[in-house]
Amino acid sequence: MSLERGYVQASRTETGRLLATLAATRSGTIAECGTGCGVGAAWLRSGAPKETRVITAELDPELAHGVMDMFADDDIDVMHANWTSLAEHAPFSLIFLDAQSAKSWPREEIIELVETGGMIVLDDFTPCPSWPPLDRGRVDTLRLEWLSDDRFTTVDVMVAEDTSVIIAVKR
Ligand SMILES: C[S@@+](CC[C@H](N)C(=O)[O-])C[C@H]1O[C@@H](n2cnc3c(N)ncnc32)[C@H](O)[C@@H]1O
Repeated sequence: MSLERGYVQASRTETGRLLATLAATRSGTIAECGTGCGVGAAWLRSGAPKETRVITAELDPELAHGVMDMFADDDIDVMHANWTSLAEHAPFSLIFLDAQSAKSWPREEIIELVETGGMIVLDDFTPCPSWPPLDRGRVDTLRLEWLSDDRFTTVDVMVAEDTSVIIAVKR
């Protein structure tokens, strides 16, 4: 039941395919903040090389333990923890932030978790062709911050008509 609850928020196939493709280029450790029912972690695992570690953190105890059981035979480490606990396993070659609340998490703390050449991936943005990027008529300040941060090479990828993903690579 708990995993069914998480499924309504699961990553879309378009985002999942992108995650798997990015993961295929990664060594070291890949992290996900917000496991949900495990869809994103499964996509990351499916693309990542065998020797690349995949670790995911989920705040909700039912979801975290449900996914731990589900992945018991798979090579995915699930933590029942706040995303900040992932720091114990950093630096990461890719970090996927998939909680609506992640949009308000401190950017500098997230940046510290990633190695040089590592990727920060954030999903669920509203596609916008204009500059500065807008969301419902207002400047999307978070997307603007990622796209204009000189410490990163960043792209806003429209994975479907109604959703885009930010990929920021640390220089
Ligand atoms: C959109 S869902 C995740 C979907 C999942 N990544 C997938 O691809 O199917 C967001 C999840 O983030 C979790 N979450 C919210 N705040 C969190 C935090 N501070 N630390 C870890 N997980 C958090 C929520 O409980 C929720 O399950």
